[in-house]
Amino acid sequence: MTLQQFIQQMPKVELHLHIEGTLEPELMFALAQRNRMDLPFKSVQKVREAYHFTNLQSFLDIYYQGAQVLVAEQDFYDLMWAYLKKASEQNVRHAEIFFDPQTHTERGIPFEVVIQGLTRAREDAERQMGITSELILCFLRHLSPEAALKTLEDAYPYREKILGVGLDSSEQGRPPSLFTEVFKQAKDQSYRIVAHAGEEGPAEYVWEAIRLLGVQRIDHGVRSIEDPELIDYLVENQIALTVCPLSNLKLCVFEEMGQHNLKQLLDLGVRVTINSDDPAYFGGYLNENFLATQAGLDLSLADLHQISRNAIEASFLGEAEKQLLRAELDQYFQRD
Ligand code: HPA
Ligand code: ZN
Repeated sequence: MTLQQFIQQMPKVELHLHIEGTLEPELMFALAQRNRMDLPFKSVQKVREAYHFTNLQSFLDIYYQGAQVLVAEQDFYDLMWAYLKKASEQNVRHAEIFFDPQTHTERGIPFEVVIQGLTRAREDAERQMGITSELILCFLRHLSPEAALKTLEDAYPYREKILGVGLDSSEQGRPPSLFTEVFKQAKDQSYRIVAHAGEEGPAEYVWEAIRLLGVQRIDHGVRSIEDPELIDYLVENQIALTVCPLSNLKLCVFEEMGQHNLKQLLDLGVRVTINSDDPAYFGGYLNENFLATQAGLDLSLADLHQISRNAIEASFLGEAEKQLLRAELDQYFQRD
């Protein structure tokens, strides 16, 4: 078996995936047509050619623009279904999926339309393909803390459909401390807590996410390496980092895969995982992220095993589900 086949068939868990970031240009065109909207691009090819980013903001501008074709409940259904089908084909067993309600409610799309479409597709996918998933609501940090509080209120009637809350969008100059109150209220409502930190922002933002927001894991977090005390804390408390290698390359967080610090973090004992972030924009789903990282950093089978085990442990699955996945994974790595 080639390494590519080995990674393809390996049972996987994905913990950092924005559903709006799975919008492939083909679906973007189909939805634009269905909703009678004009796109600023002439073809699928032209859309793909526009995907050259220099930093996080240059990506976000195009990503929010693309999401405008999502209007009806069926659009959100189709988006979620397409991702879960792809993930299932890649042997992803379980995914904890971000959605950005404010990207839609700001355009006048009701919260209910978004959540019902996404939820119905998740339920159908679990029934028909066996892939399990959860939703994590992300607050957009370029918008105000008051807007985040309003979004938490909007979510209240759908509390049981949403597992956790997170924080995403433009990081620089938008420290987690701005959002302390909304995360406190989310915690009071028993949401699981995560946040993007230390992607472009400093290690200090990772500390804030831990101390002020009470996160259970950190999304990205690669700049934690700049603070040895923080690394010690992450190791001692086994706070996972949901690292997204192809995203980091496309957004110029690292110049090339050989310079990525994932292997260094792994060797230090940090609970690192591999994820795809926004696969339609960054050139690959979970398998492609594993493959590119393995090749760039010369990861061993033991490394791949550890990274996959980390994702199971860092997930919000119950102990019984974790045990089943652990057993399946360990058995997979024992084969000849
Ligand atoms: N960082 C911040 N916001 C985002 C990202 C990301 O990687 N992807 C989608 N929104
Ligand atoms: Zn992300």
